[in-house]
Amino acid sequence: MSVIEEQLPFVGRIEDILAAGGIDDHFHIICDENDVVGFFNIDLGFHKKMDNLSEQDLGLRSFFIDKNFQGRGYGLKAVMLFKDYLQENYCSFSAMALTVNCKNIPAIRCYEKGGFEDTDKLYLGGLAGPQHVMRLEY
Ligand SMILES: CC(C)(COP(=O)(O)OP(=O)(O)OC[C@H]1O[C@@H](n2cnc3c(N)ncnc32)[C@H](O)[C@@H]1OP(=O)(O)O)[C@@H](O)C(=O)NCCC(=O)NCCS
Repeated sequence: MSVIEEQLPFVGRIEDILAAGGIDDHFHIICDENDVVGFFNIDLGFHKKMDNLSEQDLGLRSFFIDKNFQGRGYGLKAVMLFKDYLQENYCSFSAMALTVNCKNIPAIRCYEKGGFEDTDKLYLGGLAGPQHVMRLEY
């Protein structure tokens, strides 16, 4: 499972993501029947790594759709399912936050369409340039 080469600066390789996992990381796969179409990490410790987030904010990290399944609506569908999933499974938190590279227009559009809002704060700690900080309250 991977993204295309040009998207690697935005998300990295799955083997590296898995190897870096710690106690706060809840890895998820996105499935459509027998196909594994995507991946994301719910990071319970995200607020500790970021300014301006509260303890009620968990993090969405490493969200991607496999290159063979992109552009078919899976990314948006997954984002639209987050609210219900989080209410049911992460009810001690109340919002999901993420950072997204300012150049990553497809991802920004996808998050906006799925209800995430730009906090108007930029995160400058990313290796590939400034990132928007977006949040979804639930
Ligand atoms: C961003 C990503 C998750 C979107 O998933 P996807 O399944 O390809 O997207 P969808 O088919 O659900 O499209 C949802 C919306 O995203 C936007 N979008 C998707 N691909 C796009 C593209 N190439 N250009 C512009 N907008 C795009 C559109 O607004 C689209 O809605 P529309 O089709 O009604 O216009 C996927 O492209 C991806 O995995 N990218 C690489 C990894 C990455 O950047 N992850 C985000 C890290 S923060």
